[in-house]
Amino acid sequence: MNSPCQRLLLTHSKQLIELFGSESPRYVPEVRIAEQGGTESVNWTIKGVAELKQGKHIVTSAVEHVVVLECCKYLEKHHGYQVTYVGVDEHGRVSVEDVKKAIKEDTILVTIMHANNETGTINDIKAIAAEARSRGVLMHTDASQSVGKVPINVKDLGVDFLTVAGHKCLHPIPSTLHRCTISSVVGTPYS
Ligand SMILES: Cc1ncc(COP(=O)(O)O)c(C=O)c1O
Repeated sequence: MNSPCQRLLLTHSKQLIELFGSESPRYVPEVRIAEQGGTESVNWTIKGVAELKQGKHIVTSAVEHVVVLECCKYLEKHHGYQVTYVGVDEHGRVSVEDVKKAIKEDTILVTIMHANNETGTINDIKAIAAEARSRGVLMHTDASQSVGKVPINVKDLGVDFLTVAGHKCLHPIPSTLHRCTISSVVGTPYS
């Protein structure tokens, strides 16, 4: 960690970890993958889970960012996945009950955004994640629009994967934070 660039990245990494949970001992994600942005983070997560988990069903919402919708469509079209797109209420919010009903025996992933990029609506990710995890299903939330604007604590939310768009919160490295170790992809221009 000798170059100014490496020191800057280290400082930013520490700040990012603090941002996600400041209790002691600090919550440190088990794996953090640095990518080019939210788009790549979402792609790695959804397609990575599809690659590694048995089962052909994903639950998402109809109002996700286009990158999530496109990943789901890709898996439907090319890999025989079935995707349930739950609707939203009059405030644009996903209902925990709807997610609960949508989860099936072969569901591998629930991916619901934290804050919507058009309406600003914030979903109850903690409750949705609790439901998913109680059924043995991995949980991803796209928090590209949330980090740096509203408090986010990965541990409190209980998600397996959280997408950060670093360039939206002045962090040099956009990333996916993983609570579980199903991926070992780490090679980046920064490492
Ligand atoms: C909710 C959400 N997810 C994903 C993305 C994609 O992020 P990026 O532009 O870093 O690829 C955006 C971009 O605005 C977004 O608002």
